[in-house]
Amino acid sequence: MGIRIRDGLFSLETKNSLYQMKTDEEGLLNHVYYGRKTTDDMSYLNRRIDRAFSGNPYDRQDDRSYSTDTLPQEYPTGGAGDYRIPALLAEAGNGSRTCELRFESARKLQGKVKPAGLPGVRGNESTEGLEIILRDKVYGLTVHLIYYVFEEQDIIVRSVRLENTGAMTICLRKAASVSIDFACGSPRELIHFHGRHNMERNPERLSIPKGGCISAGSTRGTSSHHSNPYVILCNRNTTENEGECWGFMLMYSGNHLEETGADQMGSVRFVAGIHPETFRWKLEKGDEFQTPEAILSYSDGGLNGLSRNYHRIIRDEVIHPKWKNAEAPVLLNSWEASYFNFDKESLLNLAGEAKELGMDMLVLDDGWFGKREDDTTGLGDWTCNEKKLGCSLAELSEKIHAKGLKFGLWVEPEMISEDSDLYRSHPDWALSDPGRKPVVGRNQLVLDMSRQETQDYLYNALSDILDKVKIEYIKWDFNRSMANIYSHALPEDRQGETAHRFILGTYSLLERLLERYPDLLIEGCSGGGGRFDAGMLYYTPQIWCSDDTDAIERLEIQRGTSYGYPPCTMGAHVSACPNHQTGRTVPMKTRGIVAMSGTFGYEMNPALLTENEKTEIREQIKSFRRFRPILANGDYYRLDEIGETADFTAWMFVSPDRREALVNLVGSHVRANAAFPYIRLKGLDPDRMYRAEETGEIASGAALMYGGYTYFPLNGDYPAVQMHWVSEK
Ligand code: GLA
Repeated sequence: MGIRIRDGLFSLETKNSLYQMKTDEEGLLNHVYYGRKTTDDMSYLNRRIDRAFSGNPYDRQDDRSYSTDTLPQEYPTGGAGDYRIPALLAEAGNGSRTCELRFESARKLQGKVKPAGLPGVRGNESTEGLEIILRDKVYGLTVHLIYYVFEEQDIIVRSVRLENTGAMTICLRKAASVSIDFACGSPRELIHFHGRHNMERNPERLSIPKGGCISAGSTRGTSSHHSNPYVILCNRNTTENEGECWGFMLMYSGNHLEETGADQMGSVRFVAGIHPETFRWKLEKGDEFQTPEAILSYSDGGLNGLSRNYHRIIRDEVIHPKWKNAEAPVLLNSWEASYFNFDKESLLNLAGEAKELGMDMLVLDDGWFGKREDDTTGLGDWTCNEKKLGCSLAELSEKIHAKGLKFGLWVEPEMISEDSDLYRSHPDWALSDPGRKPVVGRNQLVLDMSRQETQDYLYNALSDILDKVKIEYIKWDFNRSMANIYSHALPEDRQGETAHRFILGTYSLLERLLERYPDLLIEGCSGGGGRFDAGMLYYTPQIWCSDDTDAIERLEIQRGTSYGYPPCTMGAHVSACPNHQTGRTVPMKTRGIVAMSGTFGYEMNPALLTENEKTEIREQIKSFRRFRPILANGDYYRLDEIGETADFTAWMFVSPDRREALVNLVGSHVRANAAFPYIRLKGLDPDRMYRAEETGEIASGAALMYGGYTYFPLNGDYPAVQMHWVSEK
């Protein structure tokens, strides 16, 4: 099990999958197989034949069947006769842009090592890994392909370290984290997750084109609302519960690119990593570059099976272990309650209401610092506006704690307002091109996080607050796309490093702060879910999923997010109706059921609620606390297919011991004389009898899974049903 090396054949085994590579007689590392587990040598799949216009290495002129253009490769490079998507584009100091990597050596690794400067899948000292070293002899470029195997979760983690071991300067123009070649015939489709502010992570399923390539990615400086760094390849007949699929998730929060296309014979290549458009990295002699990790998984249990693999690895090995079984606070956030208009009194009133309703924490959102009365000023001036608040932050926090609540605070550290003391003293700390007016977004500029002094400034400013004020939670926001990615601190020939150095700076700041404040819970945010990725989840175990708090919109957003990320990471709140983003009115019960499938909290002014609504909220919080173990650690199943035009959305959680299940159904379109809403439950024990707490019905796991369950037609606007099925024995 784990990792086997035999006669140039490298096999990485997880519980249900095999990943295989082999070196050939030229020293080229061939990709052999990634799929359902077998213990065979699968290299017989790599047949060779002469294909015209597919050139041959010089020394193989008499064997036209050997071509880098047709062989399946593990880390393909540009310039040397492979015309498919390259994983590596390197340019030497003499202008040459041809790179040929050949096998040097391989060794097993014992114990997971975090990639330098980046977040990594955690693992431990018993995690097994493999390092394969390839080298371009002319450049003196040494490439370390690093693999780790997480057997139980069916996950393989890949990354690449590039080292200039030659005499010339080398410029990396593209250095992907992962590349993989599939034999002709499979997979045929790509699912990617596109979106926009207020509607993140919509799955779209596309055919993989022949002779061309399709790509998803972001050049916005962050992983973005618009294209998540997670994609799935699958077969045409793969459904939620059946068929093969391969997941590729970058553990990265900056610009990224995922590309796939089928070659002249229909074999599919997939490549993903840092987006080359905003990347150029100079490696002087002796320098190294480390790519982000890519988290790979294979499932033959359909998309739900693949999602569960990702949910497990993220819960077990991405988020910090201290949060795994911790009870995230049920919070009341001030944003939709009062936006920028608050003072000590109004906040203490909110806190009083929150406590009375059974919540755990009050979060003070935007507007408490500098001279910030709206979104045009103050970013960078991280000192409390005591005049506006009517007291110090420390006093406010003390009073909130005295009510028996925790206190949380919003910050947006990586930004700077032109109208701020910080900008007036350090205009060169903002990203901007010499001689040009910068693009503004939400009236703000982006702080140059690649600079050590900006990181230090933020570390000191935030530490100063955290030292003086009792704060259990920080909401860490990022509210615009980056542009003018030019650092006034880097030399001209290193400007192409700014975008990646920015993200490294952010990671480093988060790392330092969490080292100093290990109990601090940070919720990631970027205008909602604009930086929802595994890189941020390493530091921030929950991320605000979307600024769209409408429960019916959230059905789509949270469903789309669930393909890669577990519900316990999705920030979700019950907000006021009519909803502030859509104007829609949805019953409190439905809003509660939807937010419960996330971190759960509220975002409204409870003083404006009726007594009945308040009673409902108290009950909602009680049932959330009761179901929290299954919601946080249960297996999650989507009960409908992508793009199905059902009048309802259904999803469920099953406890790890399969003794209980929580089934949720929300009607998005109620019809007269309607059919019975019908679902088939998943993940139950077929031999157990389950009883529904709400109706008293009793049925076997087999009946509920194979025969399914019908509801009576739903009634009213956006109704919801939640059923708790509990094993009889
Ligand atoms: C972003 C966040 C919101 C809120 C505002 C404050 O849009 O996503 O939740 O914090 O900023 O300006």
